[in-house]
Amino acid sequence: MNTVIEVNNVSKTFGKNTNLNRVLDEACMYVAEGEFVSLMGASGSGKSTLLYLIGGLDRDFEGKITLCGKDIGSLKDKELSDLRLKNVGFVFQFYNLVMNLNVADNILLPQTINGKTKASLKDELDEILELTGLTDKKKAMPATLSGGQQQRVAIARAVMGNPAIILADEPTGNLDAKSSQEVMELFSKLNKEKGLTILQVTHSERCASYGTRIIKLEDGKTIG
Ligand SMILES: Nc1ncnc2c1ncn2[C@@H]1O[C@H](COP(=O)(O)OP(=O)(O)OP(=O)(O)O)[C@@H](O)[C@H]1O
Ligand SMILES: [Mg+2]
Repeated sequence: MNTVIEVNNVSKTFGKNTNLNRVLDEACMYVAEGEFVSLMGASGSGKSTLLYLIGGLDRDFEGKITLCGKDIGSLKDKELSDLRLKNVGFVFQFYNLVMNLNVADNILLPQTINGKTKASLKDELDEILELTGLTDKKKAMPATLSGGQQQRVAIARAVMGNPAIILADEPTGNLDAKSSQEVMELFSKLNKEKGLTILQVTHSERCASYGTRIIKLEDGKTIG
C-alpha cells in the first residue's frame, strides 16, 4: 500500500503562556493512494488546522507528517513549496477564483504562474474541462456562474498538473443541496475514473458517504 499522507503523533497548540489551546493532541492518521477520505468532527475540533498542516501551509507543529514519502518538517521552505505545487491541489469553501480571468485562465493559473505555457497545457485543460462538465463554460467569467459551477472550476484548477492528492476544506460548505451533490459526484468520479486521492473535510454525513472512509477528530485525536 502506498500512503500519500502519514500523520504521526501530531500536536498543535495555539496561543501563549496561560492561554494555550492544544487543538491537536498526538493525532495519527494516513491516506493511501486511491482513497477518498472524509475528515469529520465538531466545529472547532481542528479539522482545518490538520488539513493545513498536511498541506504544508502551516509548518509550526510537533510530531511528524509525511507527504508523498517526504518528511515535511525536514524540508526547506522552497523544497516544501515545490512539493506542494507538484503534489497537492487545494479546494476551499470559498472558491478563491480570480474574478477578472475567465474559466480556462483560472484553471491554468497555478501552472502558468510557474512558467508553463498555455499551449503546453491545452490537451490537459480540455480533458479536465470535459471531466468537470465545464467545456461550454471555458470562456465564461466566474461572476456569470452558479456557486456549484464556480466550485467545479476550483476543482478543475486543483486537478490540473495531476497532483498526488486533493485537499478540500468543506468544499460544499457554501452550496445548496443540489450543487453539493454535483460536487460530491464529481469528486467520486475523479476518484474512481482518474484514481485521484482525495481528503475532504466535511460536516455532512451525506457528503462523507460519497467517500471510501471516514476519520473523526475528537479532543485533538483522530478516530477511525
Ligand atoms: N490562527 C489561529 N490562531 C489561534 N487559534 C486558532 C487559529 N486557527 C485555529 N485556531 C483555533 O483552533 C481550533 C480549531 O480550529 P479549526 O479551524 O481547525 O477547527 P475546524 O474543526 O476546522 O472548525 P470548523 O468546522 O468550524 O471549520 C479552534 O479553537 C480555533 O479557535
Ligand atoms: Mg474548518
